[in-house]
Amino acid sequence: MRDRVRGVKSGGKCVGFVPTMGFLHEGHLSLVRASVRSTDYTVVSIFVNPAQFAPHEDFKDYPRDRERDLELLRSEGVHAVFAPLPDALYPEGHRTYVEVHGLQDRLCGKTRPAFFRGVCTVVLKLFHIVGPDVAFFGQKDAQQSIIIRRMVPELDLDVRIEVCPIVRDDDGLALSSRNAYFDGAQRKAALCLHRSLEMARVKITGGERDAARLIHAIRGDIQAEPRAKIDYVEIVDTKELLPRDTAREGDLIALAVYIDGVRIIDNIII
Ligand code: PAJ
Repeated sequence: MRDRVRGVKSGGKCVGFVPTMGFLHEGHLSLVRASVRSTDYTVVSIFVNPAQFAPHEDFKDYPRDRERDLELLRSEGVHAVFAPLPDALYPEGHRTYVEVHGLQDRLCGKTRPAFFRGVCTVVLKLFHIVGPDVAFFGQKDAQQSIIIRRMVPELDLDVRIEVCPIVRDDDGLALSSRNAYFDGAQRKAALCLHRSLEMARVKITGGERDAARLIHAIRGDIQAEPRAKIDYVEIVDTKELLPRDTAREGDLIALAVYIDGVRIIDNIII
């Protein structure tokens, strides 16, 4: 991978990179298209990163379809796919990890304490291996992109981070590889995430700024759905991810909800 990219860069070309865990959908492909459009050479990684799954989570069952992924990437005009085996990135005895303190403990970090440590470690490793000029992330994982954006200058990395908008199905559900776990009724129930956020957006447009009242309204809407169990609903600033008393323009409303035990996330920027 390194040799390949070095060759490309020595020819003066700009290299774009899209890290993924595969089982690609239109959300991933929107990042791929942004890279193909704005750079000369696009690398996509497919790696289900064991370091970001807790022992009780779905690492083993995480959906995978390598052939379909490669077919999709080929038709998008991607130049190279990097798909290492777990042992290649984490040989026996691996002990080095990257942490972004504070930020990694908020929002999703409360229920997934080692998650962002795993994400940052693999993203840094992939950046070192691929050596891109620009890397593309999705707003769907808002906390992830905020943490990566913080890590890059703090570790003096020479890569520009682009964050692309959330891609949704026609009914509003944010695309996610984990939606594959849902049957029809569960999928319908999962719409409560987007619906409650849009309801909050309407209240904000109407002048409501009190964070506690907005959160209460969002929670009430989600709790009306019997299959849903709330992990968190928070309104935070996008720098430190700390809760606001009064919601401001540019703040993040983020939530995580279990639908019959499958945890999904969504967010909006006010
Ligand atoms: P994964 O969940 O496969 O997502 C890869 C990228 O696609 C992430 O940047 C994510 O935010 C983006 N993405 C997913 N669904 C999206 C949607 N509906 N709209 C827009 N973008 C979307 O995120 C990861 O993998 C991993 O943590 C990774 C960064 C690869 C590190 O292992």
